[in-house]
Amino acid sequence: MSDTSPSPVRWGLLGAGRITEGALIPALRARGAAIVALGCRDVERGRRLAERHGIDHALPYAELLRRDDIDAVYIGLHNSAHLPWTLAAIEAGKHVLCEKPLALNAGEVRRMQQAQSRTGRLVHEAFMYRYHPQIDRVREIVRSGELGELQLMRGSFGFRLDKPDDSRWDPALGGGALYDVGVYPLSLMRLLAGTRPQVRGAWGRLGPGGADVLAHAVLGFGDVVAHLDCGFTLPGLDVHFEAIGSRGRLRLPNPFVAKNVEAELHVCVGDEQRTERFAPVDHYMLMAAHFERAVRGEEPLRWTLDDALEQAEALDEMLARLRVS
Ligand SMILES: NC(=O)c1ccc[n+]([C@@H]2O[C@H](COP(=O)([O-])OP(=O)(O)OC[C@H]3O[C@@H](n4cnc5c(N)ncnc54)[C@H](OP(=O)(O)O)[C@@H]3O)[C@@H](O)[C@H]2O)c1
Repeated sequence: MSDTSPSPVRWGLLGAGRITEGALIPALRARGAAIVALGCRDVERGRRLAERHGIDHALPYAELLRRDDIDAVYIGLHNSAHLPWTLAAIEAGKHVLCEKPLALNAGEVRRMQQAQSRTGRLVHEAFMYRYHPQIDRVREIVRSGELGELQLMRGSFGFRLDKPDDSRWDPALGGGALYDVGVYPLSLMRLLAGTRPQVRGAWGRLGPGGADVLAHAVLGFGDVVAHLDCGFTLPGLDVHFEAIGSRGRLRLPNPFVAKNVEAELHVCVGDEQRTERFAPVDHYMLMAAHFERAVRGEEPLRWTLDDALEQAEALDEMLARLRVS
């Protein structure tokens, strides 16, 4: 590394789970980031994963947070662990990149905001999809007025969850399809509308453990109507997003999970149709790069806890209005 290279952010990772190993470690490694330690409930299991990825230390979570050679912590734990470990990390002086949903409700986000204003640490919700260039382009098209006045949005994210012991089945662990995948279309709708949603109705189906496994909601962003659906009992991946204005429409066939594949955006205005293509990128890597620049003070975070709060308030309302069968 040359003398002019910025000092690397030193990472600790909490949780030796699927997304940590499948997405975060490769993204951090690809950009040459320094991963100091992996936190795991079962240190032996953590050590095996750490060795596979050339990480020197596997530790209990609390011990990892006590190290002074770690600047930033990634929290890749099940949803109900996000609040306690985000607070513990902030209090230990670490910056936090925490998986979505950052919190289970707006009250949890407010507690993070209080801790943040006391400590000055950064907290970022790891919505990696927002870092894909296709999302910047969609925002640009909607803002430009090319589609006319925005009227309608439709977004879905569903898949098949085959693991019977997964935390997503268990409400006590923050399970449920709205928390797991409904948050993606909600987040993109908020991004495009630029206003708070009102929840007009929400319907769902509960699984055997009591978590919502399939859900549908109708939202209003001022005059813009939005339909959202999500679930994890579907036969396979079901993702798409559409925005329709008074003059035209756009459609993203792969809005949320376009990692390292070519992505397409279809635009149709009057008789004119076009497809814009995006070269494969790793949006986790782009997110990590931005977060590191923010940690080094080189740029402000693109989305702060105010955004996470608005997201959590909308989720609270959806869950409160959820009528189940
Ligand atoms: N941004 C994305 O693309 C994306 C994709 C998938 C998931 N996610 C989010 O990432 C987080 C983790 O998802 P994942 O699929 O990686 O989860 P996972 O592998 O099922 O679990 C992650 C870790 O959480 C801890 N954990 C899980 N179940 C637990 C339980 N019953 N009791 C105590 N600890 C438990 C474990 O930590 P130890 O290793 O320490 O035992 C586990 O390794 C979730 O918040 C999810 O919403 C994000």
